[in-house]
Amino acid sequence: MNTKELLKSLTREEKIGQMLQIAPFFFVKHAHVEVAGHLKALNLTKKQIFEAGSVLGIGNGHEMIEVQEVFLKESRHKIPLLFMADIIHGYETIFPVPLGLASSFNPKLAKKVARISALEAATSGIHVTFSPMADLSRDPRWGRVVESFGEDPYLNGQFSSAMVQGYQGDDLKQENNLASCVKHYAAYGKSEAGRDYNTVDLSRLSLHYDHMEGYRKAIEAGARLIMTSFNVVDGIPSTVNKYLLRDVLRDLWHFTGVTITDYDSLHQVIAHGVAEDDLQAALRGIDAGLDIEMASTCYVNYLSELVDQGLVDETLIDDACLRILDLKEELGLFDNPYKHAHPERATQIVRSKEHLDSARKVAHESIVLLENRQVLPLKSGTKVALVGPYATNRETNGPWSWHGNNALNANLQEALNHDLEIIYINSSEVISDYQTDDFNVIEDADVVLYACGETIHESGEAHNRAKIALPRDQENLYHVLKKHAKKIVTIIFAGRPLILNELTSSDALVYAWFPGSEGAYALSDLLLGRMNPSGKLPMSFPRHEGQIPLYYNHLNTGRPYDPTHRNPFTSYYLDVPNTPLYPFGYGLSYTSFELGSSMLSSNHMSLNETVELKVQIKNTGMMRGQEVVQLYIRDHFAWIARPIKELKAFQKVMLEPGEEVTLTFNIDKTMLGYYTQDGLFVVEPGHFDLMIGTDSDHLTTHKLTLKKE
Ligand code: BGC
Repeated sequence: MNTKELLKSLTREEKIGQMLQIAPFFFVKHAHVEVAGHLKALNLTKKQIFEAGSVLGIGNGHEMIEVQEVFLKESRHKIPLLFMADIIHGYETIFPVPLGLASSFNPKLAKKVARISALEAATSGIHVTFSPMADLSRDPRWGRVVESFGEDPYLNGQFSSAMVQGYQGDDLKQENNLASCVKHYAAYGKSEAGRDYNTVDLSRLSLHYDHMEGYRKAIEAGARLIMTSFNVVDGIPSTVNKYLLRDVLRDLWHFTGVTITDYDSLHQVIAHGVAEDDLQAALRGIDAGLDIEMASTCYVNYLSELVDQGLVDETLIDDACLRILDLKEELGLFDNPYKHAHPERATQIVRSKEHLDSARKVAHESIVLLENRQVLPLKSGTKVALVGPYATNRETNGPWSWHGNNALNANLQEALNHDLEIIYINSSEVISDYQTDDFNVIEDADVVLYACGETIHESGEAHNRAKIALPRDQENLYHVLKKHAKKIVTIIFAGRPLILNELTSSDALVYAWFPGSEGAYALSDLLLGRMNPSGKLPMSFPRHEGQIPLYYNHLNTGRPYDPTHRNPFTSYYLDVPNTPLYPFGYGLSYTSFELGSSMLSSNHMSLNETVELKVQIKNTGMMRGQEVVQLYIRDHFAWIARPIKELKAFQKVMLEPGEEVTLTFNIDKTMLGYYTQDGLFVVEPGHFDLMIGTDSDHLTTHKLTLKKE
């Protein structure tokens, strides 16, 4: 399709229509009835509906076909609708939530997750997924931290990029490839006080240095769309922020794809106080470079009027419309408007054994072992008491899994039944539901498995918590169980790092996140030692909410705290340590690994040289397992202050007992430079530390000098 010619054939209203995204029910349920209810609130006419460009959310292939058929019949121009939806961590086969996925420190897995999600979701006629969410987050109070890849820009970039590659494949025209819409641009993860939709106020330096990396890497990987965020940046809502949408996105990053608002966020700029009404909102949106308006109607109702008034140049509308038509062409919709909708194929591949097996494998690598005092793995036949809400709860899919069905998941009781002797089971978290007799049985068990945590309704969009300890009565129950148990293994389901202080006294502590469709089976594999845990924390775990934001890659202060030489006039709290309870990059295994000597090929290099850091790693334990070797850098002196350490590379290796390998990290200037407040990458000569280890807190240092040319 020659999209430029097509553009010429459209009326101005039809071009503006391409910039409107609405829900599917408009087309099939209400389109033929009198304009009322929700429709009236959006102030849309039937003509406008049948000029729309895209659809938000669709249940299955049958629905998609119906909507597209009705639309193509009614619309004058016959330009197929584009279908978009939130496929975040799986379609019907649900994988661990993104924060869990990041714990795998295995971007190849993320690519696979995205690929399987695309294969399944495509059958429902979806063409675009609103994923990955590349918002860097250092605030576990924020409900949406569950959708993020955590606190580190590099890790965030690696996972965001891998997800885009997995969704999109090599050629969007081919079957089963979804276009990826990275979100929420920009810095949504910095919502003040962890409250969703709240103000974001940050320096340009932190914007480019910390927060942009995820979006930047997704775009470098080819993401065809980007969604704006609900927050302001420099006092201007991202949705109408010219600096973000034009200066950075188009001019600096050369992004050629489509920009889209978040839900109703163009209209919401009125509440932000930067537009008086929908007309002004439309003016600011088009001016800023915003292409598609999701679920509000400022553009469709006012853009044409703005052109008539001479306030908007129609070429801006042409540019936006052309980008949308080009995306439709790139996806092959002009050749086949029903592309991807395959209800029959869905029955063959959705939740196939192969996909569920993959979900189980991903969960193995996502779950993090935080403590183990020689209790795990359990021997088969061990007598256990299974206690706590997740003993029988199947709701392990986590937020943003709306095509998934928790009812199809096994719970822990079912998953453990075959291998352990469960002598007692109680899924209440309320102490008064446990009588003396219950404790007698609990005392009899070799091990108490305490499965607790947040419900899926305590995490996700708009689900923020100011207190992030274990919810409700669960901590009290832990103390009582601990008194009675010979050994207690605590398993926590959660969408965020929780404050765990007392729980660290568990004989073993397992952090499962929301592990997805096969979570219970994956846990049974780990608890019984059929698999060896290898997850690492993608966020620092605070000791207390008062430490938030707490992240390992912070700047030094002029008065850094040194616990070995206490000086009262340094940067610390009187009542809580500065340090996290568990550091970024931390996680245990059933086997032990020893990092042997590491060697740097040279202690100095010039800008265009590379040096090699070689490190030996040996599995010194009794079980096959994976370890993540992490490389951090520190730039001691630069024009700007730089973090005390920054992750720059990692490698995950599988080793048999006794096996030893040498890993090589290539150090080049891209690891040593930084982004300025203008978003430019610069490298300054100087003195660097290269630090290598298996978490961010236990590192061996090498010195490197980057010479002037
Ligand atoms: C969320 C987005 C999501 C959109 C469409 C919004 O409320 O913030 O992440 O993609 O809804 O469902």
